[in-house]
Amino acid sequence: MRHDFTTRPDRAGTGSSKWSSMVEAGGDPAKGIVPLSVADMEFVEAPEIVEALRSFASDAVFGYTEPTDSYYDACISWQTRRHGWTPSRDWMVLSPGVVPALFNAVKCLTEPGDAIIIQPPVYYPFRWAAERTGRDVIENPLILDGDNRYLIDFDDLAEKAADPQARMLILCSPHNPVGRVWDREELRRLVDICLENDVFIVSDEIHDGLIMPGYHHTTLMNVMTPDEWDRCMVCTAPSKTFNLAGCQCSNIFIPSGDVRERFEHGFGMSAIESLNCFSYVACTAAYESCDAWLDELIDVIWTNHELVADRLSSFRPEATVFDLEGTYLQWVDLRCLGLDADRLESLMHEADLYLDEGHLFGREGDGFERINLACPTSVIEESLDRLQHVLTI
Ligand SMILES: Cc1ncc(COP(=O)(O)O)c(C=O)c1O
Repeated sequence: MRHDFTTRPDRAGTGSSKWSSMVEAGGDPAKGIVPLSVADMEFVEAPEIVEALRSFASDAVFGYTEPTDSYYDACISWQTRRHGWTPSRDWMVLSPGVVPALFNAVKCLTEPGDAIIIQPPVYYPFRWAAERTGRDVIENPLILDGDNRYLIDFDDLAEKAADPQARMLILCSPHNPVGRVWDREELRRLVDICLENDVFIVSDEIHDGLIMPGYHHTTLMNVMTPDEWDRCMVCTAPSKTFNLAGCQCSNIFIPSGDVRERFEHGFGMSAIESLNCFSYVACTAAYESCDAWLDELIDVIWTNHELVADRLSSFRPEATVFDLEGTYLQWVDLRCLGLDADRLESLMHEADLYLDEGHLFGREGDGFERINLACPTSVIEESLDRLQHVLTI
């Protein structure tokens, strides 16, 4: 491997949200334990990004900064190269995060009292985007098939989308936490149902670069035809794929001029106009220079996934480690332990494991855990040793 995926940076006491929450929950970094919760990575940053930031910092004036041509070119080239879709630069609205973009979309494109469809178990801010802005939530829960694979319940979706209150669906593609990479056929069925019922689709594709071997991410834009694009927007960012969440930079693609104008107006009302000057540099370097780093990262995540699957099946065969198609978030079904949410969490803490508890993603996640695999393999090995210990005493 050309890049370093074995060194674990010491993030304790650095203000890292993931590490601070572990400490608040009683985890002691002095014991050498590492939280496997919040979706960022425990690797040293890609040197190409660090170098770009270093060189920028040594020459730049840190005044108000607009995105440059090379920023737009890098973002568009990433979409073209990785997803076979070339957006127009005019469609891009920059946002400090995908979550702020989701909230803004709900506020600008729906009315209080409308309902937003979500597909739990799902990334919990989707629910907040509706509830905190006075909208209702309509749930279209994913279903598990006989092979323990999560699927969209299309019959239920057709019924829910037909409710006149339903105005928007927030899609997680690839899906956090269940790790599915939706295929073209699934996405087209979802689109047909939404179009038939005039439900606008917000596709959160923040995990679009984290696709496991043998799978292919299909952007919603390639599933919808250009004459349908005014019924959707796609949210992207380098923050998950290249570990840049702290740089706060995302790119929202909105082909419809009318929708874009409403969305931009919403950001204008919160005085969200441009990003910080470092985020452009980090994003450009990530999208332009880090393909090799990303290939190596995927190998490590895949190794970690296989390790969790093999080890858990050896000491707890009744647990289900779901196939990982995309993201670095491993969804695990531990309902076989027969524990309620509090007891499951305290058992994990007994093992010095600080994970994301499944119930956070909706009641469908009760008895499940989400394990963040984006860390050196040695960390996963040690974590599994501790899990084995508490599950076999
Ligand atoms: C599906 C999904 N959307 C959005 C985010 C966060 O986006 P941001 O930090 O850009 O607001 C995450 C973070 O884990 C995520 O998994």
